Amino acid sequence: MTVKEQLQGCVEFVKARVSFCPKVALVLGSGLGGFADTLDVVQTLDYKDIPNFPVSTVAGHNGRFVFGHCAGVPVAAMQGRVHMYEGYTPQEAVLPLRLLRALGAEILFLTNAAGGIQPGMKAGEFMLITDQISSFVPSPLRGENLDELGVRFPDMSAVYSPRLQKIIRRIAVNEDIPLKEGVYVQTAGPAYESPAEIRMFRSLGADAVGMSTAIEAIAARHCGMEICGVSCISNLAAGISPHPLSHEEVKEAADKAAPQFETLVRRTIEEIGKV
Ligand code: HPA
Repeated sequence: MTVKEQLQGCVEFVKARVSFCPKVALVLGSGLGGFADTLDVVQTLDYKDIPNFPVSTVAGHNGRFVFGHCAGVPVAAMQGRVHMYEGYTPQEAVLPLRLLRALGAEILFLTNAAGGIQPGMKAGEFMLITDQISSFVPSPLRGENLDELGVRFPDMSAVYSPRLQKIIRRIAVNEDIPLKEGVYVQTAGPAYESPAEIRMFRSLGADAVGMSTAIEAIAARHCGMEICGVSCISNLAAGISPHPLSHEEVKEAADKAAPQFETLVRRTIEEIGKV
């Protein structure tokens, strides 16, 4: 089955069951999925019930779409995402957000848990993503171009919308939520990085590292979405952290940061809905 056929099949299946038209697509990262439960839920759809849809297998990722309103704004939240380290191709990993684009979503709000590289970062803080490095993972746009979605050679000079960045910065100040900002680098995972790799990423200009997001942002730019992203710094990256890294630590830190995170996301969506 081609990428195009797989996407078309999923879109047809979901459109036949969901009449909701989201304005904002929201991807909820590790430990951050609880936000979806705070929506005024209209409908949910489990990924496993959609034929040929990639299903997430990681603990802490539920694997469903939650359609509902946040402060009156129609939102499609992804409770869980699929990662390349689960064995999926980059094209499969971006299928869900292409599907949400097909349902009508214009804005993509990406969240993730990430390791902090920037000097001075602390676990539990947030980082507004201002740019990204995807050079260490294959492009989700590899292969035949889907002309109906976007151009063969899309521009990536402003992946993260300056307009949305401005809104998020203002909200963080107003809500008294400390917000770092910087460049996110995606690795293939699933192993955490070695200290030497983190030193390399630092010297290349990265401020936080994770195993998702950058390919999603590329696919979303390709199909014309306006993007913003926030990382929850769940741990200091390898070699900076005084102790070994674990998924439990990542989940725990993300859980602890969840209330502030929810405020930041809710207020941002509220502002987006006004314009
Ligand atoms: N490295 C990669 N991915 C991550 C990390 C990390 O330190 N923390 C959370 N996701």
